[in-house]
Amino acid sequence: MSTKRALITGVNGQDGSYLAEELLERGYEVFGLVRRVGLEAPEHRLERLVHLLDRIDLRAASLESYAGIFNAVAKIRPDECYHLAAASFVSYEFDDEFSTLTANINGTHYLLAALKDLVPDCRFYFAGTSEMFGSAASAPQNEQTRFRPRSIYGISKVAGFELIRNYRERYGMHASSGILFNHESPRRGHEFVTRKITSGVARILAGHASELRLGNLDAERDWGYAKEYVKAMWLMLQQPEPDDYVIATGLLHSVRDFVRIAFQCAGLDWERYVVTDPHFFRTGESVALCGDASKARRILGWMPNKGFEEMVREMVEADCAALGIPLPAREAV
Ligand code: GDD
Repeated sequence: MSTKRALITGVNGQDGSYLAEELLERGYEVFGLVRRVGLEAPEHRLERLVHLLDRIDLRAASLESYAGIFNAVAKIRPDECYHLAAASFVSYEFDDEFSTLTANINGTHYLLAALKDLVPDCRFYFAGTSEMFGSAASAPQNEQTRFRPRSIYGISKVAGFELIRNYRERYGMHASSGILFNHESPRRGHEFVTRKITSGVARILAGHASELRLGNLDAERDWGYAKEYVKAMWLMLQQPEPDDYVIATGLLHSVRDFVRIAFQCAGLDWERYVVTDPHFFRTGESVALCGDASKARRILGWMPNKGFEEMVREMVEADCAALGIPLPAREAV
C-alpha cells in the first residue's frame, strides 16, 4: 500500500505538533498549512515544529483565501485532512466578533469545498470544542446534548460542525467532528490558564516574578492531556463510517486545584503569590463543562490515561527546565 498523505491545518499549534508526530510515527507523509510569514522565520514562528522541520512538508496558504486553499489541496491531494486551525481564544465579551466568526467559518467552508471538488474520498477531521455546549442545560455533556454556545468562538464552531454534518450527509464525505474538552500540555499557548500558571510558577521560582495574577479560581474545567487527544482524532478517521465524538476525561477540577498542585510541585505556597484580578474574570461563565466520552470509549476504544496531577507536574517541570531551574524532589500532591 502506498504511503498515506495527511494534511494538517494549525500544524504549528499544540495539537497540530503532537498530531504531526503521531502521524509520522505511523508512517504518514505529513503536510502542514502555515501562513507565509511562518515559512520566513520557522525557528521563531514555528517553535513547536522545529524538531520536525526536516520531516514534514509545510506549504504557505491562508485559510482566508479560497484560491490559496484550493491550490494547496490540488497539489497535496491528501488522503486525510485534520482541520485544527482556528482563532481559538475564548472570550465572552464578543470583542472582535466579526473577524473570529468569519475567519473560523470561512476557513472550514473553503477547505471542505475544495476537498469535495478535488479529493472527495479524503477523510476529514474537524476540531469541534466543548465551547459549543456553552451554557448547556445538562451535565455531563455527550453527543446528544443541545449546543448553546456562549462565545463567538463557540458559535463559529457550531457553524463549522453543521457544515461538516451537511457535507457528510449531502455529499457522502467521510467527515467527522471531535468535540474536544480542554486539553493541555507543555506546548499549550501562554494565553490559556494552565500554561499561564505553570510558566508563572517557573518565573517565580527563578526570581523573575513575585506574583501571578489570575481570574476566577473557582472556575472548573474538564482538563485532559493533549497528546492523548490527538490519538482520538486519528482513530475517528480510521472508522468505516464518519461520526461525531465527545473526547473528555469526565472529571472536573477548579483553577484553584490546578494552582495548588502546580505551586506544590515547586515547593511553594500558592497563597503567597496568587492575586485575583477582575480583569481576567469572564462574565456569563456559570456552567462548568464536563464531558461524557463513553461513545468514544465504546466505538474508538479511546480512553484518557494520564492523571491530572501527573499532567500538571509535567507542565511545571517543562517550564522550569526551560529556565534552567531544577524542581524540588517530588512530593505527594
Ligand atoms: N485564560 C485565562 N486566564 N483563564 C482564566 C484565568 C486567567 O487568568 N483565570 C481563570 N481562568 C479560567 C477561565 O475563566 C476558564 O474558566 C478557565 O480558566 C479556562 O480558561 P482557558 O484556559 O482560557 O481555556 P478555555 O476553557 O476558555 O478554552 C480552551 O478550551 C476549549 C475547550 O477545549 C481553548 O483551548 C479553546 O480553544 C477550547 O475550545
